[in-house]
Amino acid sequence: MHDFKFKNGRLYCEGVALEQLARECGTPLYVYSQHTITAHFQKLDRALAGLPDRLVCFAMKANSNAAILRLLANLGGGFDIVSAGELFRVVQAGGDSRRCVFAGVGKTDEEIRYALAQGIYCFNVESAPEIERINRLAREVNERAPIAIRVNPNVEAHTHAKITTGTYENKFGIAIEDVEAVYAHAATLPGIHIRGVQMHIGSQITSVGPFVKAVKKVLPLVKKLRQLYAIEFFSIGGGIGICYDPALESATPEWWSRTPKARAWLTPQRYAASLVPLLAPLGLRVLIEPGRFIVGNAGALVTRVQYVKSTPEKTFVIVDAGMNDLIRPAFYDSYHQIVPLRQTRGTLVADVVGPICESGDYFAKGRKLAAVKEGDGVALLSAGAYGMAMASNYNSRPLAAEVLVNGNRYAVVRERQAVEDLNRGEKVAGWLKR
Ligand SMILES: Cc1ncc(COP(=O)(O)O)c(C=O)c1O
Repeated sequence: MHDFKFKNGRLYCEGVALEQLARECGTPLYVYSQHTITAHFQKLDRALAGLPDRLVCFAMKANSNAAILRLLANLGGGFDIVSAGELFRVVQAGGDSRRCVFAGVGKTDEEIRYALAQGIYCFNVESAPEIERINRLAREVNERAPIAIRVNPNVEAHTHAKITTGTYENKFGIAIEDVEAVYAHAATLPGIHIRGVQMHIGSQITSVGPFVKAVKKVLPLVKKLRQLYAIEFFSIGGGIGICYDPALESATPEWWSRTPKARAWLTPQRYAASLVPLLAPLGLRVLIEPGRFIVGNAGALVTRVQYVKSTPEKTFVIVDAGMNDLIRPAFYDSYHQIVPLRQTRGTLVADVVGPICESGDYFAKGRKLAAVKEGDGVALLSAGAYGMAMASNYNSRPLAAEVLVNGNRYAVVRERQAVEDLNRGEKVAGWLKR
């Protein structure tokens, strides 16, 4: 579900025409729907009502714009963070550091010190040496750092290899067989307070099967840890997938045929119906860490066609957004619907590409599109997660602007970067000066 819809042949985000936004704010432009974000957060939260003590921690790696963080903080959300920079952004946006959980395999001394000073809810620890380091740094400031161990349950998430995180092939967490011994050691450390247990098996998971399998595998451990250390929470991580291609919503991916019970597309209701009965009897606080589900379908990347050119082999629609603005197709071969801002008659089949000097700089290949021409605006839908958050200055292209729409209003929530910002901080070595 999202709020990007055609009305009288023009594409709107809620009550604002994207053509108007492209004209007034320029392109490439990220546009987010406040209503979609709010609805997704609330749908998920309400679906989990059977877990009275729950906290939805938005995985802000998906989208770290300050306005979106503030919106989710206002809705009562916490945050799943993976760096000091993300924690800084939460604090700046008015979020509550006591609702932050800090994951990541490479936390530095500086990051741990900063998180201790900000009083985060929990460090989600990813290795035995990390516990030693947190213990040492917490003792330096006479504190006991709250920790949970990220359990690697060695469960296949059936998603893209680059976003699978819960098998022993991956760098994340501590192997489920080793976890009890690591907790036992952690319990002896004076700078450590054992607060919970965590897992996260991957991203863009489109059926409930892998979640159920992982939760069932970790549950006996959680029960034991509750008895031993009086832990207060179990975080089951994020990973709820979204529909990028409406044509696929009713289709059955090939691997599903091997898991017939998990055939139905994932919705908050299905997710909750399968997981709440497993989790509620624990009587623990339950955390979830959704990123993509909250913001993915709530954002579009608006871009303008610069040229349409043909080679003897194919037609290219060249737009003013590039892989530096949205890397998902190049990086994960992912699909984004591409729709014109103004509906037109006729179609064409083309590769939709950006201006970057890489053949991997494409948004679609051999795609049947509305017959767009030079100067037309198009929107790449479902770009709200891992879009702007993964943008770069590659080819010295300034970062796009971002806009948040709320009904008939909109606000620029990130100014377009100026070319003058591109070499900020760079210096020419003294010996090169003439
Ligand atoms: C620890 C952790 N939690 C949550 C998420 C969010 O995943 P998603 O955006 O698929 O919900 C991630 C994503 O990589 C993660 O690493």
